[in-house]
Amino acid sequence: MQMSKFYITTPIYYINDVPHIGHAYTTIVADVLARWHRLMGDDVFFLTGLDENSAKTVQAAKERGFEDMQKYADRMAENWRKVWRVLNISNDGFIRTTEDRHKKTVKDFFTKIYEKGDVYKGEYEGRYCEGCEAFLTESDLVDGKCSLHKKVPKIVKEENYFFKLSKYQGKILKYVKNPSVILPSSRRSETLSFVKGGLRDTSISRPNAGWGIPVPVDPKNVVWVWFDALLNYISGADGRYWPADLHIVGKDILRFHCTLWPGMLLSTGYELPKKFLVHGFLTVDGQKMSKSLGNVIDPVYLSEKYSADAVKYFLIRDIPLGEDGDFSERVLITRLNDELADILGNLIHRVLTFIYSKFNGKVPKPGELDKRDRELLHLIESTSPSVGNHIEELNPGAGLREIIKLAKSGNKYFNDSQPWQSIKEDPKRCAATLYVSAQLVRSLAIMLAPYLPSASERIWVSLNLPGSVHEQRWDSAIEPGLKPGHKIGEPEPLFEKLPSKTLTEGKKSKNQAPNTITEQDFSKLDIRIGKILGAEPIPKSKKLLKLSIDVVGEHRTIVAGLAEHYSSEELVGKQVAVVLNMKPVQLMSIKSEGMLLAAEDKGGISILTVDKPVKSGAKVR
Ligand code: MSP
Repeated sequence: MQMSKFYITTPIYYINDVPHIGHAYTTIVADVLARWHRLMGDDVFFLTGLDENSAKTVQAAKERGFEDMQKYADRMAENWRKVWRVLNISNDGFIRTTEDRHKKTVKDFFTKIYEKGDVYKGEYEGRYCEGCEAFLTESDLVDGKCSLHKKVPKIVKEENYFFKLSKYQGKILKYVKNPSVILPSSRRSETLSFVKGGLRDTSISRPNAGWGIPVPVDPKNVVWVWFDALLNYISGADGRYWPADLHIVGKDILRFHCTLWPGMLLSTGYELPKKFLVHGFLTVDGQKMSKSLGNVIDPVYLSEKYSADAVKYFLIRDIPLGEDGDFSERVLITRLNDELADILGNLIHRVLTFIYSKFNGKVPKPGELDKRDRELLHLIESTSPSVGNHIEELNPGAGLREIIKLAKSGNKYFNDSQPWQSIKEDPKRCAATLYVSAQLVRSLAIMLAPYLPSASERIWVSLNLPGSVHEQRWDSAIEPGLKPGHKIGEPEPLFEKLPSKTLTEGKKSKNQAPNTITEQDFSKLDIRIGKILGAEPIPKSKKLLKLSIDVVGEHRTIVAGLAEHYSSEELVGKQVAVVLNMKPVQLMSIKSEGMLLAAEDKGGISILTVDKPVKSGAKVR
């Protein structure tokens, strides 16, 4: 059978900072689609990468004290790669625009359009926004500022090379009119009206300030970063996969992708991309994400706290693709508890533990199936193609919601069938229930594979099935693929439910919009420096130590979770920061009269001490 090719891309990201949840969102959507196409047997190439030749890179490197720009770019590239690893992203390619293969593509491409006569030199005066890396028009401004970056653009007057984009107006208009090219349709209308307004020739060079790809015919200039960046889609995929089947882009970069990019391709005779999926922006708890608000959400922090699968689940399930959406850690926790743990995890665990304990770990032979059994099997058969249709129609969220609905029906089926009763009264009936339930578990593993790549693999392993769930065919989800007598592995819980305490911790997490406090609020804390006089282990506790601390001549007993991080000898004599006016609490039958301050990260716990010795009782302010 002929495999169809599926070439999918994310935008390439600027390296002036590390990824936030908005970048992760784009990449996760692409990952779900790529994984699904692989299960469909397509020859998939999923490309992501970094846009490094920007003035933002130069600025960021300077701010961070790097003199060697390439070193800075290399460091950031490591960071980005790590994030995609943590998020379990299955990209096939990773392109950096400072790589030679990319530079060569850009130079060849520039030369080609230059030789064709589609480039001319001209004087340009305009307003350049470094945030957008683009000249702005009157309509991009609000009160004289860039509507996206809220900054007054720089007036620049320079000699530039121009690309004759206007020449391709007619062809581009025809292209974007095609209803299958830009989704959702609201974004197509937006593009259409922009193109109808008239495409102007575009400046595609900037003066060479030492960073960027030199213009082949005139190295005193560098290629404009957008012209350079768009070509990653060619340079990053070995030429084998062009044209892109799907470019996923955020709404802010739609215009470059749907006007300049097709213009460049038309000029050189490349085929045009088949489709663009344009998504909206994520806000955080209803607010725009920004450094100044301190609410930029780090996807690594979230994944380490809740698992990458849980983050993916929330983003795909709750953000309507194509529209703006809101990220809320509180809702993420609710989804994890109510859906991943209570519905999905619970179903899988109860089915597998039942088989493990009551059927010797072997899938039972079903005997005759009754109406309820057949209904559930039919539901599996109809859910899988319907989820597939949703994904194909670029609505993966609807697919995911259907899968959860199926798991919910599975729980109801299990409850209604009462196998714990039938095992005593009608063992054949019980065998049928567990046979059908086991098929459901297997089918769920396959259907969840694009969405929850690691949980689905764990289900596969628990079922003791050969190979990886990611090597299966999507269509095989509807087959009763577990033979009677098949021995399953030892069941393990899939998702831990978080105690309600985590909900408040979630709210206070480091990446949430800060709850600003006044000096008055802060002064409510009586934080003092004290000296540790003694540190004893507490019987029956692996984690706690009983500390005796001298603060202003008074001895305080504080119970602290330091036993796994410090020995008594290391602690005694140290000057530490203590919150004195904490309400006392009983811990392991010891009254703890204060709180020791410490910092925590993945490496462990580090207590706060002072830089220079101070008098015991010195106030921290
Ligand atoms: N380097 C360009 C893209 C060049 S592609 C040839 C760029 N980079 S970016 O890092 O600023 O943005 C990359 C993507 O992240 C864009 O699709 C953008 O829409 C997306 N997001 C940035 N912030 C976002 C949110 N708050 N929410 C959702 N996506 C957002 O633009």
